[in-house]
Amino acid sequence: MARPQVPPLPDGQGKDTVEKLCRDCHGFAILFEPKRTKATWKKIVDQMAGLGVKGEDEEFDTVVEYLARRFGKINVNKAPAAELQDVLEITPNEAQAIVRQREANGDFKDFEGLKKVPGMDARKVDERRDRILFR
Ligand code: HEC
Repeated sequence: MARPQVPPLPDGQGKDTVEKLCRDCHGFAILFEPKRTKATWKKIVDQMAGLGVKGEDEEFDTVVEYLARRFGKINVNKAPAAELQDVLEITPNEAQAIVRQREANGDFKDFEGLKKVPGMDARKVDERRDRILFR
């Protein structure tokens, strides 16, 4: 039987800590989908600690940071540019253009609005829909 393909964990600060704390029990495939907000990741990591996962407080914080960046979901109407750039894997110019647009015109309501941001690569918006919240 073909084994399900699990891509390796993406690089990033804290990857080694995730490998250390989260390898046992269920492996990493469970981390890839669905994307989650930082608050939700925090809840899950707390839940894992409650299930007996051993680690220092700082290690759990590091895991939350890593997961929120690499498997994150963010609010395009609230997040600062640096976070948009990071979680959505867009350029600094695109991230800043999102912030400028919402400051000028108010909150984005849908993906179409986001695609119309000057300089924004609309394909990226489509590809990353599961990482985007409007409220
Ligand atoms: C001691 C074993 C164990 C370790 C180590 C462990 N988990 Fe879990 N994890 C579980 C169990 C058991 C469940 C199923 C819990 C449930 O569904 O109630 C689970 C479920 C999950 C889920 C699915 C939750 C959901 O709501 O669908 C995620 C995501 C997750 N773990 C992330 C992590 C992360 C991140 C780490 C590293 C900090 C980790 N786990 C380490 C035991 C573990």
